[in-house]
Amino acid sequence: MSELAQKSGIVITCAKGIAPFLKGEVLSLGLPVLSEGVASVLTEGRMEDAMKLNLSIRTGQRVLFLLEEFNAKNPDELYEKVSRIPWEEYIPEGEYICVTSSVETPTIKDSRFANVKCKDAIVDRMKKKRGWRPDSGPNRDRIVIHAYWKGKRCQIYLDTSGEPLSRRGYRRIPLKAPMQETLAAAVVLATGWEGSGSFINPMCGSGTLAIEAALIGLNRAPGLLRSHYGFMHLKGFDEPSWKVLRKKIKGLGKSGLRGKIIATDISEQAVEAARKNASTAGVDSLIEFGVTDYSETPVPDGGGVVILNPEYGERMGEIEELKVIYKGIGDFFKKKCQRYTGYLFTGNLDLAKEVGLRTKRRVPFFNSNIECRLLEYDLYEGSRKYPNSN
Ligand SMILES: C[S@@+](CC[C@H](N)C(=O)[O-])C[C@H]1O[C@@H](n2cnc3c(N)ncnc32)[C@H](O)[C@@H]1O
Repeated sequence: MSELAQKSGIVITCAKGIAPFLKGEVLSLGLPVLSEGVASVLTEGRMEDAMKLNLSIRTGQRVLFLLEEFNAKNPDELYEKVSRIPWEEYIPEGEYICVTSSVETPTIKDSRFANVKCKDAIVDRMKKKRGWRPDSGPNRDRIVIHAYWKGKRCQIYLDTSGEPLSRRGYRRIPLKAPMQETLAAAVVLATGWEGSGSFINPMCGSGTLAIEAALIGLNRAPGLLRSHYGFMHLKGFDEPSWKVLRKKIKGLGKSGLRGKIIATDISEQAVEAARKNASTAGVDSLIEFGVTDYSETPVPDGGGVVILNPEYGERMGEIEELKVIYKGIGDFFKKKCQRYTGYLFTGNLDLAKEVGLRTKRRVPFFNSNIECRLLEYDLYEGSRKYPNSN
């Protein structure tokens, strides 16, 4: 991977609203943040840094390593400039490629046409230089190439992640309305919970928040759960360095938590799924699970974070029934969670008003396309004096 040993731009994509958390993660890994977009962070580094990012970041979706940047006014110019890239230095014999793109340019209406143009340029060059054409298609489990084309400007990247990083591999039993792993990690980071104090998660569903909290509390890199990335298929992939890097990052993890993690749900099926998912993630021994109404969730003394992600009537549940639940959450916070910081993650701010407590902070997020808020409530004495101010 000699060409890839050079420094280049690295774009990490994320869901809308998550970039500030991703930025914090990139900085804490010792990499610079050159700019922050609505759904991405730009840094720079070598392929080795891209590997480190794939292993370590919790809130990003894809790590894109910049190969080339140019102006292209139309698809023919795109083809011509993509064919100038020395693909034979990146694609080993017999490899399969997948081309993805994000296109916003007047000469193309369907981004699939840009994919085809790029793919043709790559395979035609490989045929000319090496005498064979790589197979190609939609599967992202081998070499993935990404074209970002906005106006005249076009960037061609190697998508070093392949499958998106939200697919940690632990959620084997999906339930209805689960939170994406990367979003759950950003939400836990937003609470500031780092492993001391309790983390209480009634309405845990498939357990994503509790599992991500455990990984954060243990300082365990989420990428260690995955054994496969796009960069592994590139020519000259340095497997010994990869193994050393994995070992080094594994060594940064802690062996236990000071705080307790408690995850409950009224659905037995949900708790069973959460338990299995936590076991796949290797954190089941750190989470106490229970089948119960949220209001009966045990809340140990000592304080910490209590967080609920109830349904919000967009995908499941009826608004009138949910009003009762949201009001009940306010009562649960008031009566059982003193000395805690309470959090509600919801996409329905009208329902959130039913909680009846003053919000101290509101953090905007998106769950799929639904605009959501993480609402923070300080549940110490005094915060109960300001009802209905959402
Ligand atoms: C939106 S889902 C939570 C999704 C979860 N964050 C995840 O990542 O899978 C809401 C959950 O609340 C649970 N629930 C609904 N009413 C409840 C109640 N009264 N007490 C406890 N859990 C309840 C449902 O069973 C469902 O699993």
